Amino acid sequence: MNLETTAPPRKNPDAGARGAASKRGGIARWLDDRLGLGPLLAHLREKDVPHHRHSVWYFFGGMTLFLFTVQVVTGILLLFYYSPGANSAFESVQFIMGQVRFGWLVRSIHSWSANLMIGSLFVHMFSVFLLKGYRAPRELTWVTGVLLFFVVLGFGFSGYLLPWNQLAFFATKVGTEIAGAIPIVGHTVLRLLRGGDDVTGVTLSRFFALHVAILPIVAVGLLSVHLLLIQRQGISVPLSLEQRKAPVIRLPFFPDFFLRELIGWYVALAALAALAALDPWPLGTKCDPLAPAPAGIKPEWFFLWLYQTLRYLPAKILGLDGDMVGVCFINVAFALWIFIPFLDKKASNGRRSPAFTAIGWSAILYIIGMTLWGHFA
Ligand code: HEM
Repeated sequence: MNLETTAPPRKNPDAGARGAASKRGGIARWLDDRLGLGPLLAHLREKDVPHHRHSVWYFFGGMTLFLFTVQVVTGILLLFYYSPGANSAFESVQFIMGQVRFGWLVRSIHSWSANLMIGSLFVHMFSVFLLKGYRAPRELTWVTGVLLFFVVLGFGFSGYLLPWNQLAFFATKVGTEIAGAIPIVGHTVLRLLRGGDDVTGVTLSRFFALHVAILPIVAVGLLSVHLLLIQRQGISVPLSLEQRKAPVIRLPFFPDFFLRELIGWYVALAALAALAALDPWPLGTKCDPLAPAPAGIKPEWFFLWLYQTLRYLPAKILGLDGDMVGVCFINVAFALWIFIPFLDKKASNGRRSPAFTAIGWSAILYIIGMTLWGHFA
């Protein structure tokens, strides 16, 4: 293992690149002459990651990225057979599960990986928050991250309806009703999402377009900016270590950090294969819009804390509709979450900000508590 103390002074990347190129021959030199990869390779050779007792949290961004890639690959495979439409969606998923060779495996990996990815994303977001990785100059990395978080929740919400089964149909009805509670624009948002007043085949087409075209384009755009910023700025050292002014050990990204990431991805792949094989994702029964809603209908686990928050609000708060007040409160909280780096000025100036640490822990405890309550209630 190759450990260095503190960041070595950066060399002139062009000089390194020219040196590297001149040492290469064959395909590498041919490509370098045409694409000018030298500076990129020089950057990757010099890239390093702080190594300390909190370093384990740095692996969750890469893990989320890996699971996102699994989603893209398995999603494209599913597209070969999936057919959106009220009369064909459920049947096409049934065909994938029963007739297509390894179709059940691909679909189960897609569904399990979606859940693991959202779990990994929550860990990444809150670890970055608690290590104050959002402080200057990384404000835009945080902002693109929060937008990615919303996009990923959008993937979860839109994907849930695609098999067109009973549970998904009623969960989407409830979910879109919640969007309808937003003051002033709520009804327009509800109609825009549903493509009418009710959840129908039109809703399915819209969710399909969102899931396979609109959200992927937005996600790739945001992800590119997020990753580009990380390359430019490197990974931050936690504020607590920075304040001690102790020399920080830095681990070269290639191969040391990257090989560790690979081990994590390998374990995740094994976990996905085991989960998909031992507990294939269920399909349920085909949606019947005229049937009564199944008893105890709940949204997916990652929306439970929001659902639970709205469920126990009184019908009227200060004379206003309880759901409307709840939805407004959640929207304001999300908006503030985006602006955290600009609100926590102390951390950006290199000082401790215990109030923000307390906000982070309260949010974590609230989300876990509400999710467990929603699950067992
Ligand atoms: C699809 C979603 C996402 C992917 C694939 C992703 C990927 C990554 C990767 C690979 C890193 C570098 C390693 C690390 O620190 O873990 C990183 C860093 C970072 N991410 Fe994300 N991320 C995502 C979402 C988010 C979210 C939701 C937030 C916050 C709300 C966020 C905020 C940050 C910040 C501030 C850093 C810099 C941390 C530092 O320098 O210490 N990211 N991300």
